[in-house]
Amino acid sequence: MEIFYEIEPLKKRLAALRRQGKKIGFVATMGALHKGHASLVEISNRENDITAVSVFVNPTQFNNKEDLEKYPRTLDADVKLLEEYEADILFAPSVDEMYPEEDTRQFEIGPVAEVMEGKFRPGHFNGVCQVVSKLFNIMAPDHAYFGQKDYQQIAVLKAMVNKYMPEMKGKIVSCPIKRADDGLALSSRNQHLSEEQRASALIISKTLFGAKEMSDKGATQKEITDYIKKQIASDANLCLEYVEIADKDTLQPIPGDKPANAVICITVYDGKTRLIDNILL
Ligand code: PAF
Repeated sequence: MEIFYEIEPLKKRLAALRRQGKKIGFVATMGALHKGHASLVEISNRENDITAVSVFVNPTQFNNKEDLEKYPRTLDADVKLLEEYEADILFAPSVDEMYPEEDTRQFEIGPVAEVMEGKFRPGHFNGVCQVVSKLFNIMAPDHAYFGQKDYQQIAVLKAMVNKYMPEMKGKIVSCPIKRADDGLALSSRNQHLSEEQRASALIISKTLFGAKEMSDKGATQKEITDYIKKQIASDANLCLEYVEIADKDTLQPIPGDKPANAVICITVYDGKTRLIDNILL
C-alpha cells in the first residue's frame, strides 16, 4: 500500500493511475478502523481497480472539543488493517495540510441536514461537507463508499453533491451497516465502552429489530416510538438523545399513523459514549 501525507504527490499519483485507465474507489474515514470500514474496502476492491482510503479526524465536524480530543487515533493499526484488506492507497494528511487556512464555506443543504444529527450537533454536517468536498476534489473518485450506519450523513452528502459538485452525482455508494454477531453496529466509538456498557449497548440494536417487527405487524408510529423509549429507559447506562421515524429519502416526519417508506434513526448515550444506529422499515 502506498501512503501519502500530502495532497500534491497523491493527486499526481492518482492522475497517473487514471491515465492508465484505472477506476478509483474511495473510502473516507476518520481512522480507528474496524470491520465496518474493511467491508467498504472490500466492496470498493470488487468494483474498482484501485481503492484509496483517507484517514483524517476532521476537526471542523466536531461541535464538542472534548469529543474531538477523545476520538481514537490508531494510525499504525489502521495501516495494518488496510494492508490486510488490500487497499492500494492511504491518504493520512495533517490538519494543516487539509486546512492551510480556515475553511469558512457554508453549505446550504436544506431540510435533510436540519433534523436529527443536524439539530443535535449544530455545524456538524457543514464540517462533514467541508472535508468530504475537499477529499472528493483531491481523489476525484469514480465511486465513493459510505456506511449506512451514518444514514443521515449519506443523505446530506448526496444533497451536497447534487447542489455543489455535480461531477460527483451518482458516485456515492451506500453500503450496509456492519454489525457484530450479537447485533451491535460496529463503530470506532465502541472502543470507549466498558464491558458493562457494551452489554447495555446491545439493547439499541435489539430494540430496533423489535421495532421493525412491530412495524411489519402493522404498529403505529406512536406505538413504535413508545416501545423504543421504554426499552432504552430500562437500562441505567443508556440515555436516549432522540429517536425519529422519518421518510427514508427526505428524513422528514411521515404523515399518518403507520410508517411507510421509513427509516428509524436513534442516538443514545451509553455512559459518555454517543452511539447512533438505524433500521429501514
Ligand atoms: O463518517 C465519517 O467517518 C466521517 O464523517 C467522514 C465521512 C470520514 C468525514 O470526516
